[in-house]
Amino acid sequence: MKKRIISLLMATLMVATLLIGCGENSSSNSGSGDYADKKVGICIYQFSDNFMTLYRTELEAYLISLGFKKENIVIQDGANDQATQTQQIQNFIADGVDVLIVNLVNSSSAATITDIVVAANIPLVYINREPSEDEENRWKENNWNVCYVGCDARQSGTMQGEIIADLGLDKVDLNGDGKIQYIMVEGDPENIDAQYRTEFSVKALVDAGFEVDELDDQVGNWDQVQGQTIVANALAAYGEKIEVVFCNNDAMALGAIQAIEAAGRTVGTDIFLVGVDALVEACEDVLSGKMTGTVFNDHIAQAHGAADCAVKFIKGEKVDVYVGCDYKKVTPDNAQEILDALK
Ligand code: BGC
Repeated sequence: MKKRIISLLMATLMVATLLIGCGENSSSNSGSGDYADKKVGICIYQFSDNFMTLYRTELEAYLISLGFKKENIVIQDGANDQATQTQQIQNFIADGVDVLIVNLVNSSSAATITDIVVAANIPLVYINREPSEDEENRWKENNWNVCYVGCDARQSGTMQGEIIADLGLDKVDLNGDGKIQYIMVEGDPENIDAQYRTEFSVKALVDAGFEVDELDDQVGNWDQVQGQTIVANALAAYGEKIEVVFCNNDAMALGAIQAIEAAGRTVGTDIFLVGVDALVEACEDVLSGKMTGTVFNDHIAQAHGAADCAVKFIKGEKVDVYVGCDYKKVTPDNAQEILDALK
């Protein structure tokens, strides 16, 4: 009898030990939180881009907060050259990274890059510069571990136009001819963000019932200095005729402010100016009246979304082909709120 009780006790103990062991195993198999040995390769199209600098800083910090080691996160500057970036991707593959996060130099190179990375069996998260719909469909059809994380630039363009439209025709139509005379300062036209913001900012004005008159449309490549030059030249050529300056991003809008001030014009009084991104400086300018408004391009949500997709791929989970995020209008009413969230 005693023997039977002892062997029963021992059997119970063995089962319990096995169960505890299983629990430990299953949690480490799912990889929850243990990414210390995982290598992440990150390619940024150009380090000198203001917005992408905020983005990559947040991306690295968030990956570290998830348990990745700083030394296992390598971020490369593509120096705005696709050949350089493609080489960096090949080096990451040779180095055996567990996942790649890529901000393409040229969105049109997506198919080539996808083929190289998929052939190496490494999951791939594209960010910021969206590949074509055909390309995204290809990932889906082939069930590849490839996705895109970003916002729909049509929304940001629409919001820019709405910020101007909400001021009312009487306020914006400074020369009273019933039309809005504007100039457009575009980002890199290869980039869908530039194409959509250019198109949808004006469309929103037209949809709101405004007549529009484009005086100038120039490419400033997302760059502050180029933005300043373009707006300075346009102000010299069209002077008082210009009522609205649309910039595809805030860096170029900051350049526009310099040109506007140098020309002796005053935003909110004799000219209106909108950008996109909600850089800290731009939000401060919206608050002080140097800019009419901007649109928050949520680099925090996008960076977290990209890292979360990378983690899912590492864990062997399925990821949606497109992971979206919303833009937000920034006007003097909420600029402080956005600033507080950014700091
Ligand atoms: C941002 C720009 C940035 C560009 C880089 C856009 O979404 O608004 O500021 O230069 O991405 O691709």
